[in-house]
Amino acid sequence: MNIRKLLDSHVSQALQLAGVEAGTPALIKPSSRPEFGDYQANGIIGAAKKLNMNPRELASTVLNHLDLSAIAEKVEIAGPGFLNIYLDSRWLAQQAESALESESLGIHKTTTPQTVVIDYSSPNLAKEMHVGHLRSTIIGDAVARVLELLGDTVIRQNHVGDWGTQFGMLLTYMNELEGDTQSLSMQLADLEKFYQAAKQRFDSDADFARAARENVVKLQAGDPEFLKRWKQFIDISLQHCDEIYQRLNVLLTRDDVMPESAYNSALSQVVMDLDQAGLLIEDQGAKCVFLDQFKGKDNTIVPMIVQKSDGGYLYATTDLAALRYRYQQLGMTRGLYFIDARQSLHMQQVFAVGKQAGFVPENVQLEHMAFGTMMGEDGTPFKTRSGGTVKLVDLLDEAQQRAFVLVTEKNPQLDEATRHHIARVVGIGAVKYSDLSKNRTSDYRFNWDAMLSFEGNTAPYLQYAYTRIQSIFRKAGQFNPDIPLLFQEPAERQLALKLLQFSEAIESVAKDGAPNLLCNYLFELSGLFMHFYEVCPIIKAEEKIKHSRLKLSALTANTLQTGLGLLGIDVLETM
Ligand code: ARG
Repeated sequence: MNIRKLLDSHVSQALQLAGVEAGTPALIKPSSRPEFGDYQANGIIGAAKKLNMNPRELASTVLNHLDLSAIAEKVEIAGPGFLNIYLDSRWLAQQAESALESESLGIHKTTTPQTVVIDYSSPNLAKEMHVGHLRSTIIGDAVARVLELLGDTVIRQNHVGDWGTQFGMLLTYMNELEGDTQSLSMQLADLEKFYQAAKQRFDSDADFARAARENVVKLQAGDPEFLKRWKQFIDISLQHCDEIYQRLNVLLTRDDVMPESAYNSALSQVVMDLDQAGLLIEDQGAKCVFLDQFKGKDNTIVPMIVQKSDGGYLYATTDLAALRYRYQQLGMTRGLYFIDARQSLHMQQVFAVGKQAGFVPENVQLEHMAFGTMMGEDGTPFKTRSGGTVKLVDLLDEAQQRAFVLVTEKNPQLDEATRHHIARVVGIGAVKYSDLSKNRTSDYRFNWDAMLSFEGNTAPYLQYAYTRIQSIFRKAGQFNPDIPLLFQEPAERQLALKLLQFSEAIESVAKDGAPNLLCNYLFELSGLFMHFYEVCPIIKAEEKIKHSRLKLSALTANTLQTGLGLLGIDVLETM
């Protein structure tokens, strides 16, 4: 049940009956304060302006046409022409009952399902995944889960970089180590060090550098020996990724990998088709597309280069090929790209050129879901003590270690295996949640103490709220489904209303690609639950009230579990 949508359709209908043009928004929002009811409709004032009418007069006409008899207890005109809507408590209780009964917590599938291609994670395989890959990986995954739950067909695409010039260097270095197979496999176990060592050779030895450049050409021309070695390297690198995905509880698998190299054979066609479409201009030997809307500060257009003067193709060329593939082969109607905000111009150019060239039709919705940078505690880019990039695997190890210390402090009596299990769920959950709960587009500061705190908008706080409820059920037993839900205290009604707003939160994530909206919701829900738990005794209450309260607790637990599950975060029975 999406209450906001339900009210929206009723108020919109009344607006039309009152003579307002169809499509004028009713602007339904949860009320900012309890004295303004549960929801308010703010669209009347704007509608009145258009009609040149007194807004309060229009509001009263709308009210005459508005039939919310089963849903609302009263509707009032307020201020210059708002409507305050007070929901009927019995109706609310019924909705909460049916949410509790339904598998889906009352969340309805979308009536207009789309085929959504989601490009996320997409690391370069030359190196091991580092902290810079965290955001794309976990934000993209959360949004993918949400869209899937709402009934879209989701196609995950891990657009890994596996084809650039760096591979010439890496293959040449592999060549050098070839005789020594044991050392080769050992060295590849730490890809980051392997990359550094190869780079060291590349920078210090001109012969090596020359060989590296020749070898990348051989690789890209399909030399079988080089291809074999390259495949070996890519496979190891993807194994590293798989381990990270598993630890992060991210759903990406090998089937979702669609590497840059897969588009290699389509690139020349992309350039020819751009030419056909009359979009290609040669500039100093390079083939470029100039679109008016990409004017820089000095009024000159920033071109998108698709082929260098030496014939080589670029990142943008591959993205155009991928765009076309996603539309033609995958049937994409909406495309979401979870990529660092610094690639914003690149993405806008790819989308605009792709549409101009007819690779995708105008009505395909393409969105760059940009995100800011993860900073260290001091506000400068996140680095190791020695100034290097932090490997994701090291970050996750540290999260688990820190969580293990915390768990051991809180619960020394638990056996070690249990404490490790809790530490994994809490530690990884904390890292993910601290990121997912931030506004996607801004930079944020990474802070261990804040994210592992049991207070505030953190994973441990939400996981703790969940375990609290589980312990209530261990003491009180299950609720009796035949005893109806009833509200005695305001805290109960407030909690129920919040529980019924779950679908509003989820739908906003689906629309904006912003999991922080779900985090905010879960945090507010937990706060309301904690308050309810404080003021409403459960176990000691008389039978009828006890079971009603157990029902609210059960629905809260289910909602927390489902909500955290959508973020790829687990819950625990105890912690
Ligand atoms: N591999 C790229 C990088 O690490 C990200 C790729 C994102 N996806 C895309 N279709 N361009 O920067």
